[in-house]
Amino acid sequence: MDAGTNSVHSSPPNSKKEDDGSAAPRPKRVLVIGYSQSGQLTRIAERILAPLRQAGDMELRVETLSPRQPYPFPWTFFSFLDAFPESAHLVAPELEPLTLRGDEDFDLVILTYQVWFLAPSLPVTAFLKHPLAQRLLRGKPVVTVIACRNMWMMAQEKMKQLLSDCGARVIDNVVLTDPSPTLLTLVTTPYWLLTGRKRLLALPAAGIDDDSIERAQRFGCALRDGLRRDAERGQAAMLQGLSACVADPRLYVSERAGTRSFYLWGKLLRAAGGPGTPWRKPLLMLYVVFLILLILSVVPVSLLLQAALRPWLKPQLAALKQRFEMPSGSGQERMGMYEH
Ligand SMILES: Cc1cc2nc3c(=O)[nH]c(=O)nc-3n(C[C@H](O)[C@H](O)[C@H](O)COP(=O)(O)O)c2cc1C
Repeated sequence: MDAGTNSVHSSPPNSKKEDDGSAAPRPKRVLVIGYSQSGQLTRIAERILAPLRQAGDMELRVETLSPRQPYPFPWTFFSFLDAFPESAHLVAPELEPLTLRGDEDFDLVILTYQVWFLAPSLPVTAFLKHPLAQRLLRGKPVVTVIACRNMWMMAQEKMKQLLSDCGARVIDNVVLTDPSPTLLTLVTTPYWLLTGRKRLLALPAAGIDDDSIERAQRFGCALRDGLRRDAERGQAAMLQGLSACVADPRLYVSERAGTRSFYLWGKLLRAAGGPGTPWRKPLLMLYVVFLILLILSVVPVSLLLQAALRPWLKPQLAALKQRFEMPSGSGQERMGMYEH
């Protein structure tokens, strides 16, 4: 996302609806925040924004986050692993100055983020911990948009807490994930992140498929229509019935185990020093062995056990699914309105 190509806009002085109702309503102002390494999340955001850009009665302000010390893409093996202690502990890096001042007044905020080590990515965490975030987000409705491999439930829990700390309320959550089977993505995603190449031999391409990205436009259409009827001021989700968020509760056990291990090992690594400290390298090597064993054991074993125990676990899994799909849900009943 390129802030420079977008019109925004802090409040024009004469844009408020006048008391006699004769003036046209002022445009709705939407703030979009994002960061993307490969451009994947930017493409998704642009599809969602397209209907809002075309609308004519919306003002968009896009803020693209830039860490002062950029994260590499593709990553080296150690730089990739070295990002986990701070990700897990939500220790934010410094950002380049924002173009926002903090006194702008938005009707809706679209916060796009990717997941790093089962937590919101560090540049986005940095924004939420920035002093301006409190001023910009207090009392504002926020639509979160996640694009990741497929483990996002714990990250969204942390995101909800960070947003609540800013006084914001999440009214919708859109999640796009890699459509390949989990065990394959555990190979193809690291390969992509460490080489920049999406294809490994005959395996399915890493990342979110083009069709899902293209179809993300439906969310922008629904947001445009919702904003036109002031739905952002209410409590109801604007993106229900559009298959915005499909949770796979079978991944919950793995996410819980992973989060705990990232947190505990992250504590140890942070005690050895900050990011890039040479002392962290041997500990990271040790951790990587542990992590591979954890992934090779916990993920398949928990998936297999859950498959075997499915009849007994059904109510718990259904409850987890419903909990994590709130507030937008996985229903499809309004798809026909926005997809032709
Ligand atoms: C350091 C790092 C850790 C990641 N951890 C996770 C994760 O825990 N769960 C997940 O589903 N995806 C994870 N991913 C994949 C990202 O969420 C995202 O899909 C990918 O990095 C592409 O995002 P981009 O738009 O920034 O290029 C991770 C990526 C990176 C770089």
